[in-house]
Amino acid sequence: MEFVRLEINEGIARVTIDRQSKLNALNAQVLDELETCFLSLKKHSEAQVIMITGAGEKSFVAGADISQFPSLSPEEAHTFSLRGQAVFSLIEASVKPVIAAVNGFALGGGCELALACHLRYASENALFGQPEVKLGVIAGYGGTQRLPRLIGTGYALDLLLSGRMVSAAEALGMGLVNGVFTQAELLSKVEELAGTIRDQGPQALAFTLQAVFEGAGKPLKDGLDIEATAFRDVFKTDDRVEGATAFLEHRSPDFKNR
Ligand code: COA
Repeated sequence: MEFVRLEINEGIARVTIDRQSKLNALNAQVLDELETCFLSLKKHSEAQVIMITGAGEKSFVAGADISQFPSLSPEEAHTFSLRGQAVFSLIEASVKPVIAAVNGFALGGGCELALACHLRYASENALFGQPEVKLGVIAGYGGTQRLPRLIGTGYALDLLLSGRMVSAAEALGMGLVNGVFTQAELLSKVEELAGTIRDQGPQALAFTLQAVFEGAGKPLKDGLDIEATAFRDVFKTDDRVEGATAFLEHRSPDFKNR
């Protein structure tokens, strides 16, 4: 792969988008490579938690590739939006937790990529925004939907209508990120958090993600039904026997992901 790198170490997969000459902007090839990478991570038994970041010190992802915009017909624009949405939905649907380590610009599709991840941490120099309106277009990779669901309509419309960039500190205040670290510390701190998650029961992590995303937007009663079903299903796993047994025997669990 030319623009997406994958390294796996001690159960933690690090996906790096590396198209630095364009601040890691997402063209069709980057989206294809991201899709290939996440499809392979699905089957990769060694990878238990996934981190995603941008190469270099300046940018996470500076958006969809604007150079494609002028020639897009409305029909092609529809396809363009559906393609980005599909790749980001694949990331969101991962049963292995996905953490964005936002190391710089997270604009447009970059902010939307972070939104499709399960957790987001930023470096102090990171800048978030949905600047599409400045280009006379709208967010098309999930921003109009995931942003209000995550941070509420008020903050989301602030970003989506003004196109302004917000600092990592402001993003933290809006609930757009889970935490902020210095640029030097970002990757090691996110790796540490990923390690904590990796050590939990993998089946439990998968059922938790499934229950949260299946229940999102549903009436509470339906969401509670989804939770009870997932709670039942997690009791079909060997890991839940190991988890409780290890606790009672005062030792660390040895989860087998089954
Ligand atoms: N699509 C395509 N190319 C992009 C890009 C994008 N989203 N974002 C940056 N680039 C390219 C620039 O065109 C430039 O390429 P060039 O050297 O061939 O001209 C290169 O990346 C470096 O960007 P530059 O603008 O020179 O860096 P900067 O530090 O002055 O500004 C930004 C950084 C992020 C503020 C500015 O690049 C920007 O506004 N980018 C667009 C962000 C955006 O609107 N994203 C949403 C798209 S829907």
